[in-house]
Amino acid sequence: MSLRAIKYENNTLEILDQLLLPAQSKYILVKGVEDGWKVINKMQVRGAPAIAIVGCLSLAVEIKGEKFESKKQLRQEIEGKLNYLVSSRPTAVNMKIAAEDLITLANQLAEDANVNLEDMKIKFLTTIEDMLEKDIADNRAIGENGAKEILTRVSGDSLVRILTHCNTGSLATAGYGTALGVIRSLHEMKRLEHVYCTETRPYNQGARLTAYELVHDKIPATLILDSMVAALMKHRNITAVVVGADRVAANGDTANKIGTYQIAVAAKHHGVPFYVAAPLTSIDMKVISGDHIVIEKRPDREMTHVGEHRIAAKGIACWNPAFDVTPASLIAGIITEHGVFRPEQLKEEFTDAST
Ligand code: MRU
Repeated sequence: MSLRAIKYENNTLEILDQLLLPAQSKYILVKGVEDGWKVINKMQVRGAPAIAIVGCLSLAVEIKGEKFESKKQLRQEIEGKLNYLVSSRPTAVNMKIAAEDLITLANQLAEDANVNLEDMKIKFLTTIEDMLEKDIADNRAIGENGAKEILTRVSGDSLVRILTHCNTGSLATAGYGTALGVIRSLHEMKRLEHVYCTETRPYNQGARLTAYELVHDKIPATLILDSMVAALMKHRNITAVVVGADRVAANGDTANKIGTYQIAVAAKHHGVPFYVAAPLTSIDMKVISGDHIVIEKRPDREMTHVGEHRIAAKGIACWNPAFDVTPASLIAGIITEHGVFRPEQLKEEFTDAST
């Protein structure tokens, strides 16, 4: 069993093929940007932070092996390839923000007369390589901030019961995870009684990937079907829901895996606090509300088939959006590496830094 989604050693990039999990742990070599685009688009690697890290590292391995005539040529190559990588999956914002930051860096280095071509390349590659460690550190901080926040909801040293959706763990990040990081942190603090994870149809990230991580870490957990959420809230006294995010808009509306919105609606009805756990790189202050977030549509086959076996009646039309938007009004807090914010606080906290 391996929980390392991304291996990057000696300028070699490999990703754990998440389409084969949990049956097989097999790594795929990513030789450059073309491979990076394909593994992200096919969802062999997925989860907003992991998409950005793999995309950028695929550019790093490609650039490292190439010879450039000039800083201008290197800058042009960086910009073109990053923009291409952003097109691999449209909803998760982390790749787009990483691309914007790296293009700004490339422009600065290209214009700086004190930086030669070799220095520019090294500085650029080091910045990408640092993303792996930063993501793990951010996730640890998210885990701790989220655990402390949720524990304010219970008295004394009571234990908590958490519901999560999709996969937001080591497999969706450089390690530890965001919403699953909060769950890991509660478990490490010995304050987690139980976690429930949804199957997450149609792609089953919950049943295949989150369940795999929870079993691996021996965290007390139960798998439920997506259709059982309201019943679970009625019968199992859930302390809080914690999910991840693919993009948080400036007003706090949050795009995440399809099914998240209905969980938030059910949580409101049952008085269960609903939290989003996400790094600052998932917050898009340039998008004013969830209405402006582009939602990726996935192939019908993900709904009509399980593996090679067709389960839906032939001829039926399908609608398969990969994500939905939970309105800010249903979100109790956004758990980040810098603390927990109410949706309406995002504008005052982050407008200057991100726009
Ligand atoms: O389609 P996926 O599997 O990439 O969707 C993943 C999610 O929706 C996650 O909740 C989100 O990317 C956050 S992962 C830390």
